[in-house]
Amino acid sequence: ARAAPQGSRTQTQRTKTNMGYIPPHLRNQQGGAAEASSQPRSLESLMSSSGGGGYRGGGGGDRGGGDRGGGGYGDRGGDRGGGGYGDRGGYGGDRGGDRRPMSSGPPRDLSGFQDSGSSRSGGYSDRGGGGFSDRGGGGGGRGFGGGERWIGVDGGENFESDLPNDTQAFRREFGEPASSGIDFGKYADIPVEVELPDGFELPADAQPCKEFAGLKCGRVLGRNLDLAGFAVPTPVQGHSVPMAINGLDVISVAQTGSGKTLAFMLPILYKLLQAGPGGGNFGGGRNTVVAIRALALAPTRELAQQIMEESKKFAFRTGLKICCAYGGSPFGDQMRELERGCDVLVATPGRLDDMITRGRVTLQQVRFLVLDEADRMLDMGFEPQIRNIVDRADMPRREERQTMMFSATFPRTVMRIADSFLNNPVMLKVGRVGGAAATVTQKVIYVDGRDKTQTCVELLKAVSGKTVIFVNTKRSADMLEDDLYQLGCPAASVHGDKDQRERERALGAFKSGSISVIIGTDVLGRGIDVPAVAHVINYDMPTDIEDYTHRIGRTGRAGHQGLATSMINDRDGGIARDLHDMLSKSNQEAPEWLMTMRGSSGKGGGKRSGGGGGGGGSRGGGG
Ligand SMILES: Nc1ncnc2c1ncn2[C@@H]1O[C@H](COP(=O)(O)OP(=O)(O)OP(=O)(O)O)[C@@H](O)[C@H]1O
Ligand SMILES: [Mg+2]
Repeated sequence: ARAAPQGSRTQTQRTKTNMGYIPPHLRNQQGGAAEASSQPRSLESLMSSSGGGGYRGGGGGDRGGGDRGGGGYGDRGGDRGGGGYGDRGGYGGDRGGDRRPMSSGPPRDLSGFQDSGSSRSGGYSDRGGGGFSDRGGGGGGRGFGGGERWIGVDGGENFESDLPNDTQAFRREFGEPASSGIDFGKYADIPVEVELPDGFELPADAQPCKEFAGLKCGRVLGRNLDLAGFAVPTPVQGHSVPMAINGLDVISVAQTGSGKTLAFMLPILYKLLQAGPGGGNFGGGRNTVVAIRALALAPTRELAQQIMEESKKFAFRTGLKICCAYGGSPFGDQMRELERGCDVLVATPGRLDDMITRGRVTLQQVRFLVLDEADRMLDMGFEPQIRNIVDRADMPRREERQTMMFSATFPRTVMRIADSFLNNPVMLKVGRVGGAAATVTQKVIYVDGRDKTQTCVELLKAVSGKTVIFVNTKRSADMLEDDLYQLGCPAASVHGDKDQRERERALGAFKSGSISVIIGTDVLGRGIDVPAVAHVINYDMPTDIEDYTHRIGRTGRAGHQGLATSMINDRDGGIARDLHDMLSKSNQEAPEWLMTMRGSSGKGGGKRSGGGGGGGGSRGGGG
């Protein structure tokens, strides 16, 4: 079973033979016409074509530009050594604030950055009143000292002449766009189902749209999309945005990594810009009550931060301010930021509930409400906080606000919330509801509990590139982190018992590429977007199929290909049947033995996965 596929190059052959373990899903691939070149192979080619060598790369080359292709594991050690991994404490690169470029952009020019950076501290006095120093005006300073001039949806008369300067500033702040890599061929045949409320007809301008220009979001947002490298809307964007702009409540269920964040943020930003600057009767001063205008709720702290960071790109130099509120970091600091004005707040339910209860935030002016990953928030037991926020606080009634729900899965349980929070919503289903992203190749291997760590090491060696390893408990996360370290595969871990700064540092290091393996509980399962994750490993199987869908969706994002390998054994009987179903429906190899596992009948069977157990659940981590 361990015969290596034949490659035509001796070196490849040798390396592969040495490797010993070939993951089952990479075995028996048709050999033959193997690599004629010494180029490291990309994951795509690895997954789709003949067996020639490749994963492990040739000699000790560097991992080079391709995050995935890279020379493989042999050389990984190299780039880590330098990256500050020697001491496990620090994962090299700090996150560099929220603004770290996603891809290797030019180094930031800090001197030039100062003035826009100072928008955090500078006097914010009256953003509504238009009293800011005039950007367009005097030659020197652009007057970004305290806020941004309100320029509406079309950017005013200086729009064109400001473009070069805006472009530079955007690059300084956000770096070069990640190469889009969207393979629209893959999205083209995704079926989209639209369920309209009874008796409702879709107005002409709420029809789906295949180009950003057609979304008519104005020049300013158009410029930002351009700068972010977004050329074409994904299907969920093309469908949801026109409907939301037309004022409809929307439930959008679309596969992982397909751009739901922009799908809800774009209409919000557009409509806020169109409405003009916020009133300012509440915000704008120390210890005042902050009146936010739009609210996005998300289940985890990291996801809330990510949504804020992503949204800041789209809100760049619009005059709109995006803030974040989440547990685990100082309340006061977050309030200070909010006090400088906040149009869109991205929050986890616990912290926001707290802010409202303490009378520091009012929802009176909220016109847009988004529940991202609503099903997960319910799973995590956030329903009371969410109901406090939506039903009991001073949030306008559903007829007076616009409400949207987005997820890749939509189990029955969320209908309860949907029914009470949304007002005659349109339901959009992009692809099969709850289905896995079509861009992810899913593999399942039977591994006895005791062999999981060894198998994990072998998988890490076999597939190069960024890898997310999921476990079910905080304790398993810590144990696996230790074990992998001992075995020469250092990784960081993120789970609910870790200090928030540690969590952020680990994820930041993973995002920036200074570490390439991260271990996480379901805290990392939802929404987290790290470009170029090559491989997701389920060290432990999740207990339900929705979590599986989201976990494996950490790879294969934005049209890229990805690989997910799940280790499964008799303790996972509870999910076996659903998994078999999922694999077959997503045109993946679905091993028959899954159907004969104990528990796969749905009766009894381990609801918990192996691998350590104990140590408290993996839930939690928002708040
Ligand atoms: N139109 C686009 N063109 C290029 N890249 C895009 C586009 N839309 C989104 N992206 C990128 O695709 C990635 C995935 O987007 P996003 O995180 O919004 O997906 P999602 O559908 O919310 O996934 P999940 O279900 O995991 O939360 C992000 O890196 C985002 O910047
Ligand atoms: Mg998302």
